[in-house]
Amino acid sequence: MKPLLTRERFPNSRHSKSKVYRSASLCIVLMPSDFTGERSNEWSSSQYQTHAGFVPRLGAPLLKDLSPQKGERILDLGCGDGVLTLQLQSSGASVTAVDASEPMIHAARDNGITDAHVIDGHRLDEKMPEWEGAFDAVFSNAALHWMKSDPAKVVRNVRGLLKKGGRFVAEFGGHANIQCIVDALKEALAARGHSDFDSRHPWFFPTAEEYTALLEANGFEVRSCVLIDRPTPLPTDVAGWYG
Ligand SMILES: C[S@@+](CC[C@H](N)C(=O)[O-])C[C@H]1O[C@@H](n2cnc3c(N)ncnc32)[C@H](O)[C@@H]1O
Repeated sequence: MKPLLTRERFPNSRHSKSKVYRSASLCIVLMPSDFTGERSNEWSSSQYQTHAGFVPRLGAPLLKDLSPQKGERILDLGCGDGVLTLQLQSSGASVTAVDASEPMIHAARDNGITDAHVIDGHRLDEKMPEWEGAFDAVFSNAALHWMKSDPAKVVRNVRGLLKKGGRFVAEFGGHANIQCIVDALKEALAARGHSDFDSRHPWFFPTAEEYTALLEANGFEVRSCVLIDRPTPLPTDVAGWYG
């Protein structure tokens, strides 16, 4: 397998307008009294645009790393509402988009992504066996940390989709991402008698070393895998962002 570039995000520091969070800063997050930490992986495209429209904006530079070429076949894994997928499509590549959320795929289609499918990244191999070895590249922005039940399976599925020499270019939440929010969630849950935080933790935030090892163990040659410290203001604060 040829070029692979994986990036991870790191949390941030103070910002003058919106609240931003990093592991070292003081963070107080108030939870409703019935908060249990349980949340389904349900997405609303309109809420996403309001509270997390910064996600595709911040992911846009990743398209440069992907360098999509006219005529290439590229899969966008966890495409969301397709805002970035559209930019990918404008390169002239033939783009296929997948996401586990039906509302997000509807939004992506409404945004002009015609080849869009509701599929969980863990199940690409069984749902679409005909896609094996069909893609020049797999792209993914801000989605892999959600695929936490079996990240190795997701990596194997990505590899299975690629042609010989194909590339995997992705960015997602890395080690210590939004650490103070995670700590606050953990504390709030403990205060309600839930001490099993690890099983409730919604995300997979590996170190660059862990993810490199995972990729290499599953057939990739890793060209670059780095943790990026990227301050990220939350326009509607934690309440809006966490939903
Ligand atoms: C933060 S959004 C990112 C969306 C888009 N890539 C962007 O940059 O705006 C994360 C997306 O991952 C999708 N997702 C979460 N778990 C998934 C899974 N197991 N398989 C496929 N998609 C998943 C969600 O439905 C959501 O649309």
